[in-house]
Amino acid sequence: MKILLQLLLGTCLANLEPLFFDLNGRETRCFIEEMPNETMMTGKYHAKIVTTATGMISETTPGLGMHVKVTDPEGKVIMDKNYGSKGKFAFTTHTPGSHKMCISSNTTKWTEEHGAYGAQRLRIDIQFHIGEDRQYYKRVAKDDKLSELQLHVVKLADQLSQISKEQDFQRYREEGFRKISEILNSRVLWWAVIQIMLVVCVGLWQTTHMRGFFLKKKLV
Ligand SMILES: *[C@@H]1O[C@H](CO)[C@@H](O)[C@H](O)[C@H]1NC(C)=O
Ligand SMILES: *[C@@H]1O[C@H](CO)[C@@H](O)[C@H](O)[C@H]1NC(C)=O
Repeated sequence: MKILLQLLLGTCLANLEPLFFDLNGRETRCFIEEMPNETMMTGKYHAKIVTTATGMISETTPGLGMHVKVTDPEGKVIMDKNYGSKGKFAFTTHTPGSHKMCISSNTTKWTEEHGAYGAQRLRIDIQFHIGEDRQYYKRVAKDDKLSELQLHVVKLADQLSQISKEQDFQRYREEGFRKISEILNSRVLWWAVIQIMLVVCVGLWQTTHMRGFFLKKKLV
């Protein structure tokens, strides 16, 4: 039973691969994630300073913070906040579709283009996570005094609800595609109607023209 539960959990844990990227000065890096409705996304990051020449990595200087901005598929800003150099941000979607998360540093003071150590860049380690994270379940287990098996059941229930949201999202996208193909279909129909009308008009014009021609030549 436990193995089965763990297998199920293992296959649908919604942790996205951790990644890192470098920023120069006021550069902004954006990530686009397609997300279902009413889904929570957490991003956990840690910014460090890399000295380009030596590749040495050090902690950031105080006063450096990160700015995170999230926009929904309609371009509405759903989060626009400053955080420290290390932290966690979270938001919940209220519209299904592509969400854009943009990360930048809130100051350029950390760059020492011609400083003692040469040029520096900001390295951000980041991990995105869909749904509740490990800390949340630890807290739930402690607060509700759940056994390990009970906790697994809670996690599974959450994952099932996430899967059903994903399915809703797929349906929502399907609806979008169907609307597009219906529009195309009606256009194709109109094109056919216009073609038929053209053929009829040309036919009529040809008959009157021919009739006139034959009458003039006194052939009928
Ligand atoms: C940047 O963010 C840090 C951490 O939140 C803050 O201490 C600092 O004052 C901010 N700097 C600017 C220029 O907004
Ligand atoms: C997304 O969820 C919100 C709140 O439950 C709801 O008002 C909205 O209609 C949903 N959007 C879609 C496209 O299902």
